[in-house]
Amino acid sequence: MANEIQENEKILDVKNLRISFRTDGGTVKAVRGISFSLYRGRTLAIVGESGSGKSVTSKAILGILAENKIVEDGQILYDGKDLLQIGEDQFSKIRGVKISMIFQDPLSSLNPIMIVGKQLTEAMVLKHKADKKEANHVLKKFDHYLNEADHAAFEEFTAAKDKEGFDLSTYDVLFEEATDLSVEAQKTAIGEILPKLQEIYDTEFQKEVIDFNKAYNLLKPLFPALKKCELGIATNPDNTIAVFPIQAKNYQEAAKDSLKHQKLLEKNLAKYHVNDFFDLPAGVRAKSRETIVSQVEHSNHFKNALTELINHLNDLLGRSPKDIKALAKGMNKAYGEALLLSKSELSAKEAKERAIKMLADVGINEPERRYNQYPFELSGGMRQRIVIAIALCSSPEILICDEPTTALDVTIQSQILELINRLKKEKNLSIVFITHDLGVVANMADDIAVMYAGKIVEQGSATDIFYDPRHPYTWALLGSVPDLNTKEKLNAIPGTPPNMLLPPRGDAFAPRNKDALEIDTLYQPPFFQISPTHRAATWNLHPEAEEVQAPKLVISRIKAALKAHPEFTPKADNMKNSVLNYIKEDKGNE
Ligand SMILES: Nc1ncnc2c1ncn2[C@@H]1O[C@H](COP(=O)(O)OP(=O)(O)OP(=O)(O)O)[C@@H](O)[C@H]1O
Ligand SMILES: [Mg+2]
Repeated sequence: MANEIQENEKILDVKNLRISFRTDGGTVKAVRGISFSLYRGRTLAIVGESGSGKSVTSKAILGILAENKIVEDGQILYDGKDLLQIGEDQFSKIRGVKISMIFQDPLSSLNPIMIVGKQLTEAMVLKHKADKKEANHVLKKFDHYLNEADHAAFEEFTAAKDKEGFDLSTYDVLFEEATDLSVEAQKTAIGEILPKLQEIYDTEFQKEVIDFNKAYNLLKPLFPALKKCELGIATNPDNTIAVFPIQAKNYQEAAKDSLKHQKLLEKNLAKYHVNDFFDLPAGVRAKSRETIVSQVEHSNHFKNALTELINHLNDLLGRSPKDIKALAKGMNKAYGEALLLSKSELSAKEAKERAIKMLADVGINEPERRYNQYPFELSGGMRQRIVIAIALCSSPEILICDEPTTALDVTIQSQILELINRLKKEKNLSIVFITHDLGVVANMADDIAVMYAGKIVEQGSATDIFYDPRHPYTWALLGSVPDLNTKEKLNAIPGTPPNMLLPPRGDAFAPRNKDALEIDTLYQPPFFQISPTHRAATWNLHPEAEEVQAPKLVISRIKAALKAHPEFTPKADNMKNSVLNYIKEDKGNE
């Protein structure tokens, strides 16, 4: 079992998701305000009985809810976007690409009349095409940036890359320069000049036509500091110098203008045999400046550029030093990868070789032979392996597994779980694993959300849920998991889940809870925090509620498990209703 939640990166953040469905019988309230986070590289299990809203949740993440849906509320944040708000064109770049899925029935995901190898290579070719398009897009952006920002360096880089094929090290040098100065020093410099720039902007740059001489004199003292921040500097024929972030579009514009000015000026200075702009005949002076770009236009460029500069500096200040370094490194890497990708071709032969390797990767024996078989010729476990291979063709970040092993028998089931676990580690996947069986996720989940009647009733690390469960529904789920060692008979959860057309007023689990309190029938319980990683929504945790113990079966199982694995003892700040509390008190009686 995995460690406690660390403050690592949230890759998916679901906030107050509320989904209903329009039906002839009324509105089905399928998901009633749930919030959870998926962290990078971790597996989140969503566990609950049939009808609790697990699949509706996963379909919402994938944007494949049925037509009669009503998205009542909430956000699904991924990669800076709210998946509930984006259009289908954007979603098609995410679904099956960044977020892949596998479902319970592998046959429904496979084409019955196509050999499995072809289904894999088709997925690869599609992915390859999409990647190439994206790579070219990235390259264009970079080229533009490099071209404008540092022409000489870019030329050198292009020459080197054409001569030797692509060499990342050349590129490294290019960007290392940008991070030469310690990031802290850059930040200090930025912190000093930012207020000054803002002041100059607020005073001098508000006029329709900027007095460049005045602006220059104001900006001049800041140049050394700006240079330290790797900012571009454009000189102008009228002795003004403009300073811009090297990435800013307006810098490029202004720099181009400057260059034109500069050339014209140089020509004129030579032609008139003078050294100074102000020694030029008035008419020529005016021409050098105004015929190319009007003063107002020029002023506007500078205004925009300074605004961008200020924004850019603010942005840099907001980043951590590590971030700034990572930014340069990331750019570096992205360029290298994009370049390689834009040139790569995927031949039919190569695709086949890769497909065969993928089949072997997902544990299919005799992959060459399997490549040519149809789905119906394979066992259920093998089909599910192929579905997994196809899902991974796009190198997704997130894999959603909705009951992927329910249709398989127990031994095959554990092999598929092992496979998913291995692939998760190898490919640093973040997984949402949906199941009605807590037992299935014992060796899979890092974090667990227990769902009942469209709500999350308990949430915590796997250690919290397995070793210190607090909600009577979680107890019931744990009690219904068969014990593999003792072949103990499982206790079915008495009663049935509520009708979601008319969900109960208070705690939806109350009618099935023998310890239910009066308040349960009146008010929804809020979440009670048990530890920083663990919370549960049951009135039994209210400080004034009488303490209720977990069922004996659950306690004895946890006791046995803790004896074997004391390292899994969870940390609980709130001991009310804790199984651990009971076990501690009970120690003397053993
Ligand atoms: N298109 C729909 N129209 C009407 N009701 C729907 C629709 N889709 C789902 N529901 C209802 O939403 C509720 C939650 O369904 P969901 O499929 O999420 O359950 P689940 O937790 O995945 O259950 P299972 O374990 O059976 O797969 C159920 O009451 C279901 O009947
Ligand atoms: Mg389901």
